[in-house]
Amino acid sequence: MKRRDFLRKSLLAATGSIVLESGIVRAVENMNITKKKMEIVVLTGSPRRNGNSAYLAERFVKGAQEKGHEVYRFDCAFKQVEPCRACNRCGMDGLCVIKDDFNELRPHLIAADMVVFATPMYYFGISAQMKRVIDRFYAINEQIKGHYKKAAFLMTYADTAKKEAEPMLLHYHALMDYLGWESVGEVVASGVWTAGSVRNTHYGEQAYRLGKSI
Ligand SMILES: Cc1cc2nc3c(=O)[nH]c(=O)nc-3n(C[C@H](O)[C@H](O)[C@H](O)COP(=O)(O)O)c2cc1C
Repeated sequence: MKRRDFLRKSLLAATGSIVLESGIVRAVENMNITKKKMEIVVLTGSPRRNGNSAYLAERFVKGAQEKGHEVYRFDCAFKQVEPCRACNRCGMDGLCVIKDDFNELRPHLIAADMVVFATPMYYFGISAQMKRVIDRFYAINEQIKGHYKKAAFLMTYADTAKKEAEPMLLHYHALMDYLGWESVGEVVASGVWTAGSVRNTHYGEQAYRLGKSI
């Protein structure tokens, strides 16, 4: 068999695509699709730039980037995002009347293969800074609900009782069920109070490995 035919046959077997006369390029393009480079949106929720949840996000990002994925990070606490006004002008599938930094995030969220939520615990819940961003998902609900994405949850809190993390995990999983997204991992970092104290724990490594496993 000629080298050219062999190549064509191998590519056909690898990609399952139909190889036309100019098909080698086409098949190689398809191979790139199957390489699964992902677009990952990372939402952080803390107003502490060098805080614990930001560190977990950083470690996750390092792992994911080492695997060749593309990351878009949106630091909710440092963006101007108003809470949803419930005017319903978007009809859960349109343009939001509020013109603010959510517009930057919007196309990334819709296109993302994965969304990561990195937040501190504030009174047993997700930080308000992140929650107001999640509530703005309302305007793109129809474009993200039932559109499969992977997701991960990175959370930090000062207390050490496992039970205290349950409401946040419940909230996160309810959100995943509703949106039809798949959670591929959670890092629940307890016992971290002061900014950066998580650096002395194994949770950074957990977040890194999670990123690397994607
Ligand atoms: C407004 C506020 C509320 C908090 N609520 C809780 C809480 O309910 N339970 C808890 O264990 N820690 C609570 N904490 C502590 C933070 O969750 C903890 O310091 C966390 O590591 C902060 O993460 P960050 O450094 O990413 O901001 C609270 C801190 C703040 C500022």
